[in-house]
Amino acid sequence: MKKQLISLAITAAFALPAAAEQSVEVLHWWTSGGEAAALNVLKGNLEKQGVKWNDMPVAGGGGEAAMTAVRARVTSGNPPTAVQMLGFDILDWGKQGVVADLNALATKEGWDKTVPAALQKFSKYNGKWIAAPVNIHSTNWIWANKDVLAKSGVTTEPKTFEEFIAAAEKVQKAGFIAIAHGGQPWQEATIFDGVVLSTGGIDYYRKAFIELDPKALNSPTTLKVFQRMSQIRKLVDKDFSGRDWNVASGMVISGKAGFQIMGDWAKGEFINAKKVPGKDFLCFRFPGTQGIVSFNTDQFAMFKLSDPDKAAAQMKLASAIMDPAFQSAFNVVKGSAPARTDVPDTAFDDCGKKAIKDVAEANKNNTMVGSIAHGHAVPASIKNAFYDVITRHFNGQIDDKKAVADLMSAAKN
Ligand code: GAL
Repeated sequence: MKKQLISLAITAAFALPAAAEQSVEVLHWWTSGGEAAALNVLKGNLEKQGVKWNDMPVAGGGGEAAMTAVRARVTSGNPPTAVQMLGFDILDWGKQGVVADLNALATKEGWDKTVPAALQKFSKYNGKWIAAPVNIHSTNWIWANKDVLAKSGVTTEPKTFEEFIAAAEKVQKAGFIAIAHGGQPWQEATIFDGVVLSTGGIDYYRKAFIELDPKALNSPTTLKVFQRMSQIRKLVDKDFSGRDWNVASGMVISGKAGFQIMGDWAKGEFINAKKVPGKDFLCFRFPGTQGIVSFNTDQFAMFKLSDPDKAAAQMKLASAIMDPAFQSAFNVVKGSAPARTDVPDTAFDDCGKKAIKDVAEANKNNTMVGSIAHGHAVPASIKNAFYDVITRHFNGQIDDKKAVADLMSAAKN
């Protein structure tokens, strides 16, 4: 009898049509320890809803390699379900009409009311939502090893560019690497974001690097920006070339170096290494940029797909990303601030609380500007041309004056 029942059950199980499994294939560049930990929060969230996660990581900070991979996939007629994207890249895909319309979901969930306007500019194309923002990162941060600073006699947080250079020189003299840096174009451009803001202020930043005003670009301020980049160049170690950003973060974490100038994804590495802000490490705004947030926001855009199960899974992913509880859990690990204004800061550490407060104030005071380095100031063609100039200058191939001239030409790309 028992045997009969079992065989009946088995037959019934095979007779039932298999429930179609919903899945998403997600292309992203979150491959460092801290980034992967944050991504796991999203993976777990979706898997709880019965959506299988097919991971498509493309290593390379800043996402250049990932964007090349996306283009190849779309060209071959096999786009991934969802893609991590930044700023102008999202708008470019919107223009090509290949990304899914998230408007119905956005209206149902009221995204318009909770996502800051500065972000919405990149989440919408022709007034329609085409991407779900998962965070607000900013690039004008410095990360420091507290113990190294104490041993070097740096007792106060530098508030101006000059004070920062003086502090870094002290660290160098004490026998440490002053600034941990990875010599890759996007990392040099990330430093550049802070130096531009600190040197010329927010109006100059907007005029020169968002409006591409030739007068502002070809000015003594831009020359000073490059002079300051040269000052920073003297404070990095000789092996900086080609180093990944998270390896540079590791140098600060382990006490080899004093500072790293990097966006707040660096905090993800410190947290992943079980370091505590205020106790083991310090976070402060790039000196001279206090009150300003040069932001970049990771968003997920979905490519149009005809399979209804896959399309339904895309909407589940978008909805999961916009969930306030998820935005808190994810950004606590990622180092960023939530992409919504209604997420409490209770679960965040001191650096996270500061990031959230800074974003709220900058949003109110109109001092939030898109990062040049991370695709929120100018389209990719100009961004890449800027990278080229900034990197050639940082590597001593062109002097400060020539860098200004080359930047002018780059702006015409
Ligand atoms: C940024 C991205 C961050 C972080 C970083 C390094 O462009 O917005 O989320 O991952 O690259 O990979």
